[in-house]
Amino acid sequence: MAVREPLVCGRRVALVAGAGGLVVLAGCGSGAGASGGGSTVTGGGGGTVPAASVPVGGGVIVADKGFLVTQPTAGQFRAFSVVCPHQGCPVSQITNGQIVCPCHGSQFSVADGSVTQGPAPTGLKALKVSDSGGTLTVS
Ligand code: FES
Repeated sequence: MAVREPLVCGRRVALVAGAGGLVVLAGCGSGAGASGGGSTVTGGGGGTVPAASVPVGGGVIVADKGFLVTQPTAGQFRAFSVVCPHQGCPVSQITNGQIVCPCHGSQFSVADGSVTQGPAPTGLKALKVSDSGGTLTVS
């Protein structure tokens, strides 16, 4: 069943969404290493996420790092920049197999980041992701 649990602590926020809903995860550890600020998003800085946090058919948005990771089918991971190619808003949720931009409603496939609903002219920028012992590294 869907779980909505908005937790915001400092700037380290990750959104986890599966077919059934959306969960917001927030890391409340040391924030001294965080860079940037405000609402500007830079795409694809890279980082790590636990593979177990990525739901099959859904994904995890790591907003403060500018990337998201999806798992279209079990054991198959994909990573993308959170920056919407329409006007640069960060995508904000993953639901029903779609990555959704809140600004003008563009949607992208969790399978390959391609546009499934405009106005975005192109898909999300793909990033590299590798799985090492259950930790996904995005670069
Ligand atoms: Fe994403 Fe316009 S910026 S749909």
